[in-house]
Amino acid sequence: MKALVTGGAGFIGSHLVDHLVEQGLDVVVVDNLSMGDLHNLRQRPEVKVYLEDVCNEKFMQQILQEEQPDYIYFLAAVASVADSIERPAETHMVNHTAVFRMLEYIRRSHLEIKQFLFTSSAAVYGNLPELPKREDSRVDPVSPYAIDKYATERFVLAYGELYDIPTVCVRFFNVYGPRQNPASPYSGVLSILTDCFKQQRPFTLYGDGTQTRDFVYVKDVIQAIWLITTSGVKHEVFNIANGVETSLNDILDTYEDITGRELAINFAAGRLGEVKRSVANIDKLVNLGYQRNWSLKQGLAQYWEGV
Ligand code: UD1
Repeated sequence: MKALVTGGAGFIGSHLVDHLVEQGLDVVVVDNLSMGDLHNLRQRPEVKVYLEDVCNEKFMQQILQEEQPDYIYFLAAVASVADSIERPAETHMVNHTAVFRMLEYIRRSHLEIKQFLFTSSAAVYGNLPELPKREDSRVDPVSPYAIDKYATERFVLAYGELYDIPTVCVRFFNVYGPRQNPASPYSGVLSILTDCFKQQRPFTLYGDGTQTRDFVYVKDVIQAIWLITTSGVKHEVFNIANGVETSLNDILDTYEDITGRELAINFAAGRLGEVKRSVANIDKLVNLGYQRNWSLKQGLAQYWEGV
């Protein structure tokens, strides 16, 4: 069995590659290292890496023909709302067009695949008040990033149904864990926080810390993806989250306990257009057999241990 992982040198992608290899699959990675890092991938005979852009249509078609993957995991993305607002045309190419073209190629060339999994985001829910977010909750994608993710989801599911391609979509909530890059101001808050604790430098808190998120440890994310693959489910959307709402203030307290260090905090105005509260309903995943292995405390403790 063979899997193609786009974005496989990235934070979540590289953990998925590790898991797929453990499960005995050969893995083909396509990554242009715009967000990813080769250090995230150990050299292994089972893993072939192509340093290419998923927007290179000819190359992607060639890879599909040559490699004939059984599973396709589309994780390549420009995963920043802010970036999508600054460069909507460029990010649209990666977050939408590259996926659409791949689906279209699969359709035209009648490629036989076992599963095509597209990774979407909680961003599609936007700022609507209903909580927790269920997969059938109303959506309100407002940024180019969220609109691309939602539109692509629709194409992925419609292509699945119309042309009998086994497709599935997942919506990531706030994923954290080893290998998440803290370097950009739009990096995940837990990677930034971890770096602050490690370097003993102050953390900038946007707003009053009462904003909430649903943080999910990357190992649970991989478990969820693998469950979705092995269950053979198709033409469905799944939230991937912990199902627990946690405020930033609670995170700060918990993380201080874990590290035994005190954090200096700079307070700044809340980010514009930011979601105040976020939490997922994960019943759909649980009904598939998902059992959360990592509470926030356990995940943070393991993350910190590896730092
Ligand atoms: C996250 C995703 C984004 C996704 C969105 C969907 C990440 C990195 N980002 O954004 O891709 O589209 O959910 O809802 O997973 N914060 C600070 N100080 C910092 C950094 C962040 O106080 O230095 C605060 C933010 O203002 C926010 C919270 O921490 O309130 C979480 O921020 P962040 O990790 O960037 O995630 P989201 O904003 O939820």
